[in-house]
Amino acid sequence: MDKRTIRDIDVSGKRVFLRVDYNVQFDDGTILDDMRLRESIPTIRALQECGAKIIACSHRGRPGGKVVEELRNAPVAEHLGRLLGQPVRALRACVGPEVDAAVAEMHSGDVILLENVRFHAEEEDNDPEFARALASCAEVFVCDAFGTAHRAHASVVGVANYLPVVAGLLMEREIDYLERVIHPVRPFALILGGAKVSDKIGILENLAAKADLICVGGGMANTFLKAQGIDIGASLAENDRIEDALRVMRQAALRDDLRLMIPTDVVIADPGGERANTVSVNRVPPGFRILDIGRQTIEDFRDALQTMNTVVWNGPLGFFEREPFDRGTIEIARALAFLPHAITVVGGGETAAAVQRAGVADRISHVSTGGGASLEMLQGITLPGVAVLLDR
Ligand code: 3PG
Repeated sequence: MDKRTIRDIDVSGKRVFLRVDYNVQFDDGTILDDMRLRESIPTIRALQECGAKIIACSHRGRPGGKVVEELRNAPVAEHLGRLLGQPVRALRACVGPEVDAAVAEMHSGDVILLENVRFHAEEEDNDPEFARALASCAEVFVCDAFGTAHRAHASVVGVANYLPVVAGLLMEREIDYLERVIHPVRPFALILGGAKVSDKIGILENLAAKADLICVGGGMANTFLKAQGIDIGASLAENDRIEDALRVMRQAALRDDLRLMIPTDVVIADPGGERANTVSVNRVPPGFRILDIGRQTIEDFRDALQTMNTVVWNGPLGFFEREPFDRGTIEIARALAFLPHAITVVGGGETAAAVQRAGVADRISHVSTGGGASLEMLQGITLPGVAVLLDR
């Protein structure tokens, strides 16, 4: 990576404004997935080892510039404190006298968490005065919020106008792995799923030329099947993306070194969404919906993946929130985990949740903490939160 990190700057004893992405959900006081918090710990520990005072800042949800009680950062601070084994003080403000007073009382190694920064409309507007106020409590800006790096907001990019900004260790890891996908060691495979072709066409346009294998599943595969004239029953498809699917298939057909795989069998549900069975793609009865890739398709994808050196996966291959339609996604997650010599990178959001559900997250080279951010990076878009980091 050609950007500076916390290893390239002296943070000893300094006040550090640490932008993290703790945009996490709670159910009845229990955090649903603490991956983003766990992944930020190495940076916090490294800063603590240098005696820094850590002023962490995050948004949660989309409160639209107003205080929303359920989106306060206090429960996040409590959970972070448990992970760190030390109390993390949650403030009820992110700028102003309460912050100044709390920072003045900090000792080396202390961590405080500012209030949800999106309670101020100025955050999303990237208001310069608000950015200056955020920056005023610190001497150095460390950005570890890869998941928010696609947002040009005050706490992500604006603060960099007032403080030297470097990447945290999570940000560094995310950029390194995604760059390894953007410049892959071949053979290189793209596994794409999720509901829509429109969400993934940018990745195809950016990376298909470098790919040796493209496996398509999830709802977006329905559009590919429909484009081939296959009757997909009542399955969802994007009619306005059929032309895109045809273009991808035509381009793949012209290349001897690219294999494009779309499902040959699928798991379907009856109109009530209940009964599930597996059929060939040519035999989807009227009114039935395709909700997963079938057994044969799983086998074929798995076999084709065996020789790959780099694999990136974005988007579940079926309706993985509901059994038994999670099977294709879980089986491919396991296949990825046991590939003999590949670098495997899984996009954030639902795909990250899927590899965790499959119990194989620790066998994947890198599971991104950023859904939208990794999607944009794979499309070749420069993320504002990365662009702003100091160059080496
Ligand atoms: C995410 O969860 O993808 C990030 O935290 C960004 O959130 P946003 O889509 O509300 O900007």
